[in-house]
Amino acid sequence: MFKVVRGTKDIFLDEIKYWQYVEENFKKICKIFNYQEIRTPIFEETEVFIRSIGLETDIVEKEMYTFLDKKGRNLALRPEETAPVIRAYVENSIFLKKPLSKFYYIGPMFRYDRPQAGRYRQFHQLGVEAIGDISPYLDLEIIILSLNFLENLGLKNFKLFINSIGCKNCRVNYQSELKRFLEKKLLCNDCNRRLKSAPIRILDCKNEGCKEIAKGIPEIFNFLCDECSEHFEKLKDSLTNFGIEFQIDPYLVRGLDYYTKTCFEIKTDLLGAQNSLIGGGRYDELVKEFGGPDTSAVGFAAGEERIVFCLKKQKIEIKEEGIDVLISTIGDKAKLRGIKLLFNLRRNGLISDHDFRTISLKSQLRYADKLGARFVIIIGEDELKKNIFLVKDLKKSVQFEVSEDDIVNFLLKN
Ligand code: HAM
Repeated sequence: MFKVVRGTKDIFLDEIKYWQYVEENFKKICKIFNYQEIRTPIFEETEVFIRSIGLETDIVEKEMYTFLDKKGRNLALRPEETAPVIRAYVENSIFLKKPLSKFYYIGPMFRYDRPQAGRYRQFHQLGVEAIGDISPYLDLEIIILSLNFLENLGLKNFKLFINSIGCKNCRVNYQSELKRFLEKKLLCNDCNRRLKSAPIRILDCKNEGCKEIAKGIPEIFNFLCDECSEHFEKLKDSLTNFGIEFQIDPYLVRGLDYYTKTCFEIKTDLLGAQNSLIGGGRYDELVKEFGGPDTSAVGFAAGEERIVFCLKKQKIEIKEEGIDVLISTIGDKAKLRGIKLLFNLRRNGLISDHDFRTISLKSQLRYADKLGARFVIIIGEDELKKNIFLVKDLKKSVQFEVSEDDIVNFLLKN
């Protein structure tokens, strides 16, 4: 028997309603905030991710699904969606058409990490990217969008953490200070290797020893330039002004190299070790890095598996819509009439079904119950003779005889 590949899963039956609920809510909130959908390919040139996420990150070093295609092109399954969105933005010169572009996306991402609760090799992100403005109020919009999204789902017990990691100018001094601080410390092999070029990466190292050392490293705030400091102050003030609770985490650097200034995460205690529901931030250099003009951008992505897990954990009930009509028939002649009616109802937009097996009326009624049908239409010998349909309203426990001419209107009206 074939089995699903390790770190991936099938989403269907009882599970799918959660996914539909999350995605519908996400699309709704994105529409309200005036974000447009974007769909990019599942795979890109590997270089797209190396240039954006960074050569010395875990994602690029260890977690990318890369492969050569038949023409020897080096391609990668996308581990995230910010880089593809910016690739599409620059490639299509969107900056010439719109000063500010706001996109949202939903789709699978791929990272070859050790699978555990809340961590998959194929997982799904719901994300947004706002490209074209440096205002801290755009960071605020993104953060409010992410919080409203979780609130609308009915989720509780999540917390917003923010930080500023400055721009590349502030980071020059900070990185030298980090190097000085880390030089004589006992780091893991990865961190030792990264010490020269990217000492900041120690902050997202998973090694226990490095985590302990990282607790004592200098905070970045003293190294922020005036512009980055002012940006961060404005963001904090506006969050406070809007009554949004947040906590500053000076060690929040995120596992991707493209961030500048603001970065944020929304975490929950419900998830265990993989406690980040949403991660995002500003990336003011990426459009230029990809060959576009100097253009600032900010965005976030939410992990759909983790959101669904929290919905279940918090026992949030998702109302399932039953079908409108189940057609029950007795005998071959009635079955044919029932099937004709079935396709007619469907043409008129009524969600309807029929159990095509030949089973007892009792079983058919049980099936109606299981499907949450509002009406059952019974067609037996009597109904054939009288040329009518017997319509049972299961909600109101009443029944009517309705003619063929009136049946669609009768059901639509009710
Ligand atoms: P990220 O923090 O790598 O950021 O991922 C965002 C979210 O995706 C995480 O908070 C988590 O919920 C989910 N996630 C990540 N890896 C896995 C996994 N292996 N299994 C299950 N869920 C996972 C980004 O990807 C950035 N592109 C976010 C962004 C958008 N920044 C700016 N714009």
